[in-house]
Amino acid sequence: MKVIGIKQPGGFKNITIIEKQDPIPQMGQVVVKWHATSLNFHDYLVAAGGIPVPEGRIPMSDGAGEIIAIGKGVDEWEVGDKVMSMFFPNWLEGKPTLKKTMFILGETLDGCMAEQSVLPATAVTKIPEGYSFAEAATLPTAGLTAWRALMVEGNIKAGDKVLIEGTGGLSIFALQLAKMAGAKIFATTSSNEKAERLKEMGAEMVINYKEDERWGKTIFKMTGGGVDHVLDVGGGSTMRNSIEAAAMNGHIYSIGILGGGRKGEITFPKLFFKHLRMTGLAVGSVEMQNKMVDAINTNGMQPVVDKSYGFDQLVEAFQYQAAGKHFGKIVLEW
Ligand SMILES: NC(=O)c1ccc[n+]([C@@H]2O[C@H](COP(=O)([O-])OP(=O)(O)OC[C@H]3O[C@@H](n4cnc5c(N)ncnc54)[C@H](OP(=O)(O)O)[C@@H]3O)[C@@H](O)[C@H]2O)c1
Repeated sequence: MKVIGIKQPGGFKNITIIEKQDPIPQMGQVVVKWHATSLNFHDYLVAAGGIPVPEGRIPMSDGAGEIIAIGKGVDEWEVGDKVMSMFFPNWLEGKPTLKKTMFILGETLDGCMAEQSVLPATAVTKIPEGYSFAEAATLPTAGLTAWRALMVEGNIKAGDKVLIEGTGGLSIFALQLAKMAGAKIFATTSSNEKAERLKEMGAEMVINYKEDERWGKTIFKMTGGGVDHVLDVGGGSTMRNSIEAAAMNGHIYSIGILGGGRKGEITFPKLFFKHLRMTGLAVGSVEMQNKMVDAINTNGMQPVVDKSYGFDQLVEAFQYQAAGKHFGKIVLEW
């Protein structure tokens, strides 16, 4: 079978197709034939050499495909079942622990950029009914993180005000989930064209963060006292504004570091005099992913797929992602 591996010293020019033996499932394992993956910023960092990985590591956390072989002792799956991957394959349920989250598909373990993978039977979940493999592959990282922020940590209610930042995969899922819950959505983007699309999808107000550097203050004013939930995707590059935009007793989810925001400064009095809650979160568990799939089966949410590439176009797809022109998710299908 073919896989795509990252040869050392890493970086795009060391991404290469490698031939490997087809995997054979052992006790408690399944073999999945992958048909699609989707791009996340974390995958980009791994592929571009920003996160060190061992020789030949197979990238990509997201995958969707079908089970083609089953090891002894596996009774929850059948050959032909359609499944998708888990960012943290060892986090089955409950709160995260170091042990549950130390293995990451496509970083500390081989990922889904392969024709086939062997995995523990507990490390995949069903996909939503009627979803294509490409649609399902958008969910395990971006979809589940947005789900966890708003539904698990945020207990979002109808009428709550939610701020999403930018139009990447995670933020567009958050917009869709917030809308489903009956929340009022506010958004930022660097593109006036994308602002129109955000409004068509239900955003009440969109600010261009390139034109208005103090967009947090603007949102606070225009919402008449701030938003209840902020999905912060820029860390050091957005947190100051995220805190400004939050309402009294608001909840900020620290999710990403776009725009070079690995480190940054916080004006602490704003944090405590607003009585804000800040939750750092990384993806979610198998239990959460199953609940998200149940919810999608009930409400029919469809992911927004911007562009699709083939198996051997991974670098091209990452270059498109880096250009920041996309709206929603970028996928690869084979
Ligand atoms: N903690 C977790 O579990 C988790 C899970 C998923 C993702 N993340 C993180 O969340 C972030 C978004 O991930 P993604 O996969 O959705 O990325 P993505 O699809 O690559 O998102 C890129 C988009 O983000 C927007 N953006 C870029 N710089 C920005 C800035 N300084 N302020 C506001 N928006 C900015 C741009 O939107 P416009 O073109 O509209 O300006 C850009 O098109 C990343 O940092 C990623 O690592 C974390």
